Amino acid sequence: MPSRVVERTQVGIVGAGPAGLVLALLLRARGITSVVLEARSRAYCEQRIRAGVLEHGTVELLEANGVGARMRREGLVHGGIYLRFGGRSRHIDFPGLTGKTITVYGQHEVVKDLIAAHVASGEPLHFDVSDVTLHGIDGERPSIRYRERSGDEREIACEVIAGCDGFHGIARESIPDGVLTAYERVYPFAWLGILTESPPVCDELIYALHDHGFALFSQRSPSVQRMYLQCAPDEDLARWSDRRIWDELHRRLAGDDAPELVEGPITQKSVTAMRSFVVEPMQFGRLFLAGDAAHIVPPTGAKGMNLAVADVAVLARALEAFFARGDRGALDAYSATCLQRVWRAERFSWWMTSMLHRAPDGDAFGSRLQLAELDYVTSSRAASQSLAENYVGLPLTT
Ligand code: FAD
Ligand code: PHB
Repeated sequence: MPSRVVERTQVGIVGAGPAGLVLALLLRARGITSVVLEARSRAYCEQRIRAGVLEHGTVELLEANGVGARMRREGLVHGGIYLRFGGRSRHIDFPGLTGKTITVYGQHEVVKDLIAAHVASGEPLHFDVSDVTLHGIDGERPSIRYRERSGDEREIACEVIAGCDGFHGIARESIPDGVLTAYERVYPFAWLGILTESPPVCDELIYALHDHGFALFSQRSPSVQRMYLQCAPDEDLARWSDRRIWDELHRRLAGDDAPELVEGPITQKSVTAMRSFVVEPMQFGRLFLAGDAAHIVPPTGAKGMNLAVADVAVLARALEAFFARGDRGALDAYSATCLQRVWRAERFSWWMTSMLHRAPDGDAFGSRLQLAELDYVTSSRAASQSLAENYVGLPLTT
């Protein structure tokens, strides 16, 4: 039997989503070597439609590390969001309340830019791998075994492993039983998301609460819009014709002060479950979890991808101290440092979700409370400022 080919590096990274790719980028800038393993093909990663809102700090980090050029050209800089309820819109002015803006730029576009920069750097990134397993994570010489597309078995011998393989990955599951505590909330609704080729109805995002449930108008470009409707968690997409989707979007996004949505071809439809989830700690031995591998937020606060980037910013700094000076302090504190921000984002995402969705088992009292909350948050400067500072993102370092 032929022996397994062994590749050596400092950091083995499992997953080429935002967390894994940004970590590789930040490590390259610090002269630390890495190998990235990804289960899917490059084309799949570059086309997977997910997040759209980049916090101020995420934009700054991408720009500072040389992957911001296309984002700056094509991203849409937004100065706020609209909250629409009772048929009327109220604006939350981010620059006025925080001095900051957000950028609407699809996650798959960020991933494309990161993959292009990675490939240009000549550092290894292996797509289409399978049977990924982690070994020796409680010692000083961990390794990752995997099968490459050709079927050959390979091994990466490293000093640290970053588990950036999302909620359904293998990294979290590789930690022995009894180490992690999971905190979870599953919501009794989901989002039906569409992409449509049509002009925008508004120059900023609209989060709407209607008796039929939540709806969101978002953008991807001047000619492609992204919209979501609250639906059942087990919703059957086959029951949603384009006509039904448009009728429901018109209904839920209607406003006395707003133009009608302009319809266009729907080019993509999907249903996304809503969950809040955190594991503590986010590390074990030489394995460090980052992004969705460690925590999930419901998408209402637009925090998931931004949290993934914030985690790896902390991890890259800690690894720099570790490799340059043998200083383990920041690495040992990685989980505690990240979890402070993670729980703030969990709170914000839960709060936005609770304020803007109709609970299937909710009552009239609950609906009135939601309207009172929306009224307060859009009329009190203190409350608007709290929403705004969370939405644009807390500072990247805590
Ligand atoms: P992922 O993007 O899931 O990447 C993990 C990678 O690991 C994947 O490429 C996967 O193929 C790979 N992988 C898995 N298992 C293995 C394995 N065994 N071996 C090798 N590779 C593996 N966030 C925001 O910040 N703003 C938003 O506006 C927003 N909107 C959203 C809207 C929707 C509809 C959804 C679904 C999500 C949204 N999010 C948003 C969340 C955001 O998309 C995620 O939080 C983000 O993708 C997390 O990045 P990640 O790198 O941790 O994980
Ligand atoms: C998106 O554009 O996909 C998007 C925007 C805001 C959210 C979630 C998703 O809260």
